[in-house]
Amino acid sequence: MQSISIIGAGNLGQSIATGLLQNGHQLTLSRRKISALSAWETRENVKLTTSNTEAIQGAEVIILAVQPRHLQAVLQEIAPQLNANQVVVSTAAGYGIERLEELLPKGQPLLRAMPNTAVSVQASMTTLSANTAGRDHLNDVSALFDCVGQTLVIDEEQMQAATVLCASGIAFWLRLIRANTQGGVEMGFESDTALKMATQTAYGAAQLLLSSGHHPEAEIDRVTTPKGCTITGLNVMEHQGMSSAFIQGLSASFEKINELKKQ
Ligand SMILES: NC(=O)c1ccc[n+]([C@@H]2O[C@H](COP(=O)([O-])OP(=O)(O)OC[C@H]3O[C@@H](n4cnc5c(N)ncnc54)[C@H](OP(=O)(O)O)[C@@H]3O)[C@@H](O)[C@H]2O)c1
Repeated sequence: MQSISIIGAGNLGQSIATGLLQNGHQLTLSRRKISALSAWETRENVKLTTSNTEAIQGAEVIILAVQPRHLQAVLQEIAPQLNANQVVVSTAAGYGIERLEELLPKGQPLLRAMPNTAVSVQASMTTLSANTAGRDHLNDVSALFDCVGQTLVIDEEQMQAATVLCASGIAFWLRLIRANTQGGVEMGFESDTALKMATQTAYGAAQLLLSSGHHPEAEIDRVTTPKGCTITGLNVMEHQGMSSAFIQGLSASFEKINELKKQ
C-alpha cells in the first residue's frame, strides 16, 4: 500500500505519518488549521489539505484520526465520495465497528485501530479489528501500524479489554516506574538519577522478554539467588499484594470502560 490519507492530523495522525513516511509511503494529511502542519510543507511525498474530500481522492487507505466528537461529521462528509476499494481505518476510542458501519456505504472495508501514546516514539502496541469486508486488508494495515510499533489483530469484542491493557496500560507502567524512582531516592539517589535508572531497567526488562520470547518467570529465576536480596524484596512486594493490585486495577478499569460504553 502506497497512498495513505490521514484525516485529522493532530497528535496521533502526525505520529502515524512520521512512521509511515520513514517507510516510503505517500501521504495526504488533512486538518482545518493547516498552519499547524507547516513543519510538513517541505517534506517529500506529503500533500497537505484542509479538504477531507480532496484528501481521500486516490487514497488506498484512509486513516481517521479525529477526536470521537468530530468523527460522525467527517464520515458524513467523506462517505458519498468513497469508492468500494478504499479501506477506512478508524482510531477513535469508543466507536465500535457496528456504529461506524452505519455511517459508511454498505460493504465498505473498515478497520478499527487502537494504538497507545507510545505511537509518538514508534513503540505503540496497536490492536486491530475489522468488519467482514475489511478482513482481507488486515495484513496490509497491520504492516502500516508496524511502522509505529507492534500490531496485533484481535476480535472487535476484545477491543475494550485491549484499550485497558495497552492504552491505559501506559499509565499503569509509568506509575510503577515512578514508585521505583521513589524507592531509589529513599536509598540515596537524586530523583533524576533514580528516574533514569528505573526507566532503563523497566525498558531492559521489557526488551528481555521481547527479544527472547521467554516467560517473565524464567527471567525472574535468573535474578533470584536463593536466600538473596531479590527474592526477599519480591516476596515482600507480593505479600503486600503487588500482582493482586495490578489484576484488580485492570478488572476495575475494564468494568469502568464497559459502563462508559453503555452510557
Ligand atoms: N493520541 C493517542 O495516542 C491516541 C491513542 C489511541 C487512540 N487515539 C484516538 O485518536 C484520535 C485523535 O487523537 P489525538 O490525540 O491525535 O487528537 P488531536 O491531537 O486533537 O487530533 C485530532 C485532529 O483532528 C483535526 N480535526 C478536527 N476536526 C476535523 C475535521 N472536520 N476535518 C479534519 N480534521 C479535523 C484537529 O485539527 P483542526 O482543529 O486543525 O482541524 C486535530 O488536530 C481520537 O479519536 C483518539 O480517541 C489517540
